[in-house]
Amino acid sequence: MQKERKLLIAGNWKMNKTAAEALDLVNGLRRELAAVKEVDLVVCPPFTALGHVSQAILDSNLRLGAQNMSEHTGGAYTGEISAAMLKEFSVRYVILGHSERRQYQKESDLLVANKALTAHAAAIKPIVCVGETLEQREAGITEKVVGDQVRGSLAGLSKDQIEETVIAYEPVWAIGTGRTATAEQAQEVHAFIRRILAGLFDEATARRIRIQYGGSVKPSNARELMSLPDVDGALVGGASLEVRSFSDIVKNSI
Ligand code: 13P
Repeated sequence: MQKERKLLIAGNWKMNKTAAEALDLVNGLRRELAAVKEVDLVVCPPFTALGHVSQAILDSNLRLGAQNMSEHTGGAYTGEISAAMLKEFSVRYVILGHSERRQYQKESDLLVANKALTAHAAAIKPIVCVGETLEQREAGITEKVVGDQVRGSLAGLSKDQIEETVIAYEPVWAIGTGRTATAEQAQEVHAFIRRILAGLFDEATARRIRIQYGGSVKPSNARELMSLPDVDGALVGGASLEVRSFSDIVKNSI
């Protein structure tokens, strides 16, 4: 299957894996996925494992991502991690505005936009997450919610920067629930996001931006989701924690 945009499949390990466990996982992935060239592959371990994983994926087709980053470049921000600190471990991507951070850390679209600008200044590609809750979907306001998040979380990005940005559509009701968006639901929102991007920038730019789907992606549904015209990859949570399931998701997507 040849798509207009190269698929990007990323594992968001969330708050899982000690450094030793992370090494086991990434060494297994390295072995299983060594031959994959058709898909860009990213692993996003917790901060404490970045150094170990960074070493373990040298000279491989796996790239490193972080799960969060400060909007500030340095200074008195206890507990925060800067872009420069991530760069030290050759981090190429950073997940920003994940729904868990929006919910538990009260991250706003403005904060996410500022973080995205800080990431770009350090040549780290942001993976900006958006998605509606079940309540919002049932109230029929999915497009309003997702549209506001896209516009707000990308505010201030230049055309060059947006082309180096990944968007992840993760319906909150599909995260960790085993309940995946149907192909129609996913395609509909992805196409909607691309129309917003075309309005914010232009058609050609919108066509170059990768929009990942996230929410209970597993080996059994990866093929259908990844074949949708506006789905350009996956942000995988639970199923990224095992070599077998993550590898099968990747292989089933090719
Ligand atoms: P699950 O794949 O566990 O549903 O998590 C999705 C997610 O939140 C990825 O960022």
